Amino acid sequence: MSLNRDLEQLLNGEGISCEGDVCGPIGAGFGGPGERQAAAPKAEDGGSAAARTILPGATIGILGGGQLGRMLAHAGGRMGYKFVTLDPTPDAPCGQTADQIVAGYSDRKAARELARRSDVITYEFENVDADVAAMLASESYVPQGSDLLHTTQHRLREKRAIEAAGARVAPYAEIASLEGLREAAARLGLPAVLKTATGGYDGKGQWVLREEADLAPAWAEAEQAGTALVLEKFIVFDREISVIAARRPSGEIRTFPPAENVHVRNILHLSIVPARVDDTIRAEAERLAVSIAETLGAVGLIAVEMFVATDGTLYVNELAPRPHNSGHYTMEASKTSQFEQHIRAICDLPLGDPGLLTPVVMANVLGEHVLPLLDWMRTADPEAARLGVEPKVHLYGKAEAKHKRKMGHVNVLAPNVEAALAWIAQSNIWRV
Ligand SMILES: Nc1ncnc2c1ncn2[C@@H]1O[C@H](COP(=O)(O)OP(=O)(O)O)[C@@H](O)[C@H]1O
Ligand SMILES: [Mg+2]
Repeated sequence: MSLNRDLEQLLNGEGISCEGDVCGPIGAGFGGPGERQAAAPKAEDGGSAAARTILPGATIGILGGGQLGRMLAHAGGRMGYKFVTLDPTPDAPCGQTADQIVAGYSDRKAARELARRSDVITYEFENVDADVAAMLASESYVPQGSDLLHTTQHRLREKRAIEAAGARVAPYAEIASLEGLREAAARLGLPAVLKTATGGYDGKGQWVLREEADLAPAWAEAEQAGTALVLEKFIVFDREISVIAARRPSGEIRTFPPAENVHVRNILHLSIVPARVDDTIRAEAERLAVSIAETLGAVGLIAVEMFVATDGTLYVNELAPRPHNSGHYTMEASKTSQFEQHIRAICDLPLGDPGLLTPVVMANVLGEHVLPLLDWMRTADPEAARLGVEPKVHLYGKAEAKHKRKMGHVNVLAPNVEAALAWIAQSNIWRV
């Protein structure tokens, strides 16, 4: 196909899809409307399908319509991709920037509709119904496959996979009874953290056990969750960091610089970049993320959360096979944002440079921070000018500013992270 024809097609918004060196219009044999399901390569085993290059003009389907989907659609929209999202909440954050199918995540008919309208499918949260993900992986083009989703949906499977990649996790045990919990607590030592194997987020589904007397009440509550449980030794850490890696189907991998993460009541509050760790730890963290992405055959982004213990040992805490809150800093502070990188990776385009342009601190905006943020926005801020910081506001378009709900974030660009932290500390926004 000639370059002119390619361009013409792009201008018509028709999109081009390529397999190997051969490119063609979407709809001319590589999964155009009505043909997409028949033409898409299959991944019967839940692994990722044979790689295809998806060029702008194509439609990207996103399972889940939250803020991560919204920011994916912003980044990809700028590059010329179209988006359709599936989410049960009408006018979801992503639905405001993409077409939306309003339906539950386990609605197979709606998932098929998403597949029909998309050239490639991705997801923006892990708890996608595994059966639906597997169905889509076998019936349409899901370059990420469903294996990694299956692994990261369950803390025990996830820990085994992390260990198989040569990384360390906190000593742990599977717990099936109060007696088993007592034995494991004696073996691992207290303090320890009891976690549900599935469904937890922002610290939900976790019980910190400090003394013997905490065991029975925690067991009584945890047992109600009706899922497998895991006990982890509590790691006394200096810092928490995360590395986001991007991997293309062809195997190219790039990692973003580690972010140093500060949680408040188990919810991410700040990501500080560059992380205040020495170069050996920085390099080791990136090496572990690469090893995990390769061993698990990740496609797209994979975020690796780690604890830096007081002796410098790195323990991998958990994985997320999607854009991650601790990577939001990349939106203004990096040459390529995590969202653009995810799009490039799933479309099998050469990855962008993840290099940092400026020091930055990302601060999450929860429901209780929205009013003070809006107050701040309407007035000039001489203190920001004095510190030389430039705060960039992102809000996700959520209707209700519920307490503790993630409503947005602010990327504070600064000459150094101390200046960004000083601005955050003196601002009135994060007082509660
Ligand atoms: N084994 C542990 N040792 C020390 N702190 C922990 C441990 N497990 C969890 N935490 C703390 O709780 C936070 C949330 O736990 P995590 O397992 O990441 O669950 P979530 O799915 O809620 O993010 C972690 O970021 C860390 O601050
Ligand atoms: Mg976590």
